[in-house]
Amino acid sequence: NRILKIGLFGFGCVGQGLYDILQKQPNLPAQVVKICVKDPLKERSLPANHFTFDAQELLNDDNLDILVEAISDAHDAYDIVTTALRQGKRVVTANKKMVAHHLEKLLQLQAEYGGLLLYEAAVAGGIPIVRTVEEFFGQEPVSRISGILNGSSNYILSQIFKEQKPYAEALQEAQDKGFAELDPWLDVSGADSRHKLCILSAHAFGRVLSPEEVPFIGINALSQPDWEFARCRGAVIKLVASLHKTEEGKLVPLVLPTLVQPTDDLTTVEQEFNGIVVEGAYTGLQLFKGKGAGGLPTGAAVLSDIAGLLKGYQYQYPKLQQNQEAAELDKGFELE
Ligand code: HSE
Repeated sequence: NRILKIGLFGFGCVGQGLYDILQKQPNLPAQVVKICVKDPLKERSLPANHFTFDAQELLNDDNLDILVEAISDAHDAYDIVTTALRQGKRVVTANKKMVAHHLEKLLQLQAEYGGLLLYEAAVAGGIPIVRTVEEFFGQEPVSRISGILNGSSNYILSQIFKEQKPYAEALQEAQDKGFAELDPWLDVSGADSRHKLCILSAHAFGRVLSPEEVPFIGINALSQPDWEFARCRGAVIKLVASLHKTEEGKLVPLVLPTLVQPTDDLTTVEQEFNGIVVEGAYTGLQLFKGKGAGGLPTGAAVLSDIAGLLKGYQYQYPKLQQNQEAAELDKGFELE
């Protein structure tokens, strides 16, 4: 059996997670053969000959079967992924900010050049939620998706409510444990949840939302009186991201710190876990819960995309197509 050759961009939490998983499972016919990183001075756990600082070296290497983009800079990620897609390559990305801001362009490039892009790791770490909403709920009307999409904020809130830790200490821990973004403002402001919501919107509702369309407030807007307010009511606060479809068919997106009662499913989602409630017309409510951040769970999601690409798996965006067809029909009626 031929060994699949992977070119990896980035060796932070996610890149290292993927690398470690492949080391733990030597029977998998896949190997990271080259890693492109940015900072030549940073100490790394592998010998220097594993690394290059030249992205072109990976992009121009036709012996690589799949490129994995796991860097934090969304601009650099965009350049890498779009260059690879223009070459018709198979690409996995974990960069939610990049996907959320450029989904339409990424779809266009795949259609034009025949490359393929998967990004399960970009939403909710190890929970296979993108494929689930797309495949399982692909034909079923979904009225609501809501939940906890940022592991760092949830970790911080758990530390505040369960351990009575101060906010700053809990945030530092989320950073030390590798849950938080390089710029943790993205986590605590709600911006990261907003990016993930945009991606879910395309797959669950067939609507490509731009991040600017999603109102957001993060846990950095809260302080001691808010924790006390929740405690007095026997509740906790969770950062809830939601997409709600009104009876008129309007999609309402929102990221908001929310008071959650002990009886609520989301109360059981603690530490760096994510939890997503999907409400379908026929299935009713379902809660998907799992590790939303961290190198191994997120690395595992990248690995599942690599395996998916090998099997020829690609996103269908089923409702996106339905919406486009409906829009075409509308146009038709207007013309008549
Ligand atoms: N910083 C992100 C989080 C990582 O805390 O959820 C996973 O996307």
